[in-house]
Amino acid sequence: MKAQMSFFLILISSLSGSQGIFRSDFFTYVPMNEQIIIGRLDEDIILPSSFERGSEVVIHWKYQDSYNSYNVHSYYKGSGHLESQDTRYANRTSLFYNEIQNGNASLFFRRLSLLDEGIYTCYVGTAIQAITNKVVLKVGVFLTPMMKYEKRNTNSFLICSVLSVYPRPIITWKMDNTLISENNMEETGSLGPFSINSTLNITGSNSSYECTIENSLLKQTWTGRWTMKDGLHKMQTEHVSLSCELVNDYFSPNQDFKVTWSRMESGISSILAYYLSSSQNTTFYESRFSWNKELKNQSDFSMNLMDLRLSDSGEYLCNISSDEYTLLTIHTVHIEPSQETASDNKGLWILVASLILVAGLILVLCLILCPSHPL
Ligand SMILES: *[C@@H]1O[C@H](CO)[C@@H](O)[C@H](O)[C@H]1NC(C)=O
Ligand SMILES: *[C@@H]1O[C@H](CO)[C@@H](O)[C@H](O)[C@H]1NC(C)=O
Ligand SMILES: *[C@@H]1O[C@H](CO)[C@@H](O)[C@H](O)[C@H]1NC(C)=O
Ligand SMILES: *[C@@H]1O[C@H](CO)[C@@H](O)[C@H](O)[C@H]1NC(C)=O
Ligand SMILES: *[C@@H]1O[C@H](CO)[C@@H](O)[C@H](O)[C@H]1NC(C)=O
Ligand SMILES: *[C@@H]1O[C@H](CO)[C@@H](O)[C@H](O)[C@H]1NC(C)=O
Ligand SMILES: *[C@@H]1O[C@H](CO)[C@@H](O)[C@H](O)[C@H]1NC(C)=O
Ligand SMILES: *[C@@H]1O[C@H](CO)[C@@H](O)[C@H](O)[C@H]1NC(C)=O
Repeated sequence: MKAQMSFFLILISSLSGSQGIFRSDFFTYVPMNEQIIIGRLDEDIILPSSFERGSEVVIHWKYQDSYNSYNVHSYYKGSGHLESQDTRYANRTSLFYNEIQNGNASLFFRRLSLLDEGIYTCYVGTAIQAITNKVVLKVGVFLTPMMKYEKRNTNSFLICSVLSVYPRPIITWKMDNTLISENNMEETGSLGPFSINSTLNITGSNSSYECTIENSLLKQTWTGRWTMKDGLHKMQTEHVSLSCELVNDYFSPNQDFKVTWSRMESGISSILAYYLSSSQNTTFYESRFSWNKELKNQSDFSMNLMDLRLSDSGEYLCNISSDEYTLLTIHTVHIEPSQETASDNKGLWILVASLILVAGLILVLCLILCPSHPL
């Protein structure tokens, strides 16, 4: 799954008409074969090219823009020739030399950049035929986006952002499952890759919100979802149970995710515990924290917080995140002083009263038992 995503490659094969570029004296001319290859920024890719086996193999890989053609990699007389290679391809290309005899002229291309996008031609000549294969290379990037929930003064905002993306993605927002428009978007990186964030003002709303960011070239979509639960009032020393579930739409048994519970109080976020699905392991930062259920199904991440203190008041945030989504659930909890605290105070008064009584008693005893005193 991971490997599939990190080495994304789509082949769309089509036979286009006989567009002869290279006139040849060979016996056969083969129509140009065109493929679209999609690579990822900074990763490696294979540009495919095959031919019918033959002797005296000559291979010329070239990059073609509207004005020029640049030498990418050449092979003839049984070895690679890089004397005329354009500097931008230095140390980045190789052929599968052992495979050439089997009709494989594919080019291994390292560390793709966005400038590598374009048309590549692979001319292969042998004693019996000449062929030119054409490869259209497209390069994309999609760093996992993020959803942030921010409070500034009395206003609240949701921010969906992606640090590096190309080509420009499609960003949509939904409020309670209805599409809404958002026009507060910031973008940097004029030629790409782009860094984009989209901010929604959700002040005073308790609707559910969802934003999706889609890279149509890489066919990858990420979703951020935010849900506010009804506020809870609890007494000191009581316990509270807060729900958080991974809904079916997102649950995929073979995808790794992380669950984080944290408390937000006056802009400061403190983590209570987190769970990693890959190791099925929880790391606790708060001893009064426990899961509500055994985490067997890996879909219900509701938690309990025992022995509440006044300082536990605040917003609790459950964050379930994978490469494809971030699901945020917010609970507001108010803790109030309990009856027990009041009786504690009563106890203190009883203690003070007893102390006064004892002091008085000692004084009286002394009056009786201290005759030598000049009273
Ligand atoms: C050429 O060989 C390489 C390495 O074995 C392989 O990955 C690639 O798919 C081959 N390409 C073709 C077109 O056969
Ligand atoms: C290619 O690699 C050689 C040897 O590792 C190095 O000397 C040269 O500077 C590299 N060229 C580029 C353009 O990176
Ligand atoms: C949610 O968790 C993910 C992964 O740990 C993290 O990148 C992201 O910043 C978190 N979001 C919030 C709002 O805490
Ligand atoms: C949004 O993006 C812009 C430019 O990339 C950046 O300056 C700004 O700090 C970001 N805002 C937030 C709230 O992340
Ligand atoms: C956000 O919305 C609230 C309520 O609608 C409004 O009072 C506030 O000015 C808005 N803030 C921004 C930065 O747009
Ligand atoms: C929040 O949601 C509840 C029920 O879903 C609704 O009754 C209430 O009016 C909402 N409050 C606000 C401020 O929108
Ligand atoms: C779970 O995490 C603890 C420390 O946080 C570690 O000592 C333990 O080996 C981990 N267990 C598994 C099964 O990964
Ligand atoms: C957890 O698994 C049990 C048995 O497999 C099933 O009966 C139960 O409904 C599941 N609970 C959830 C929340 O999916």
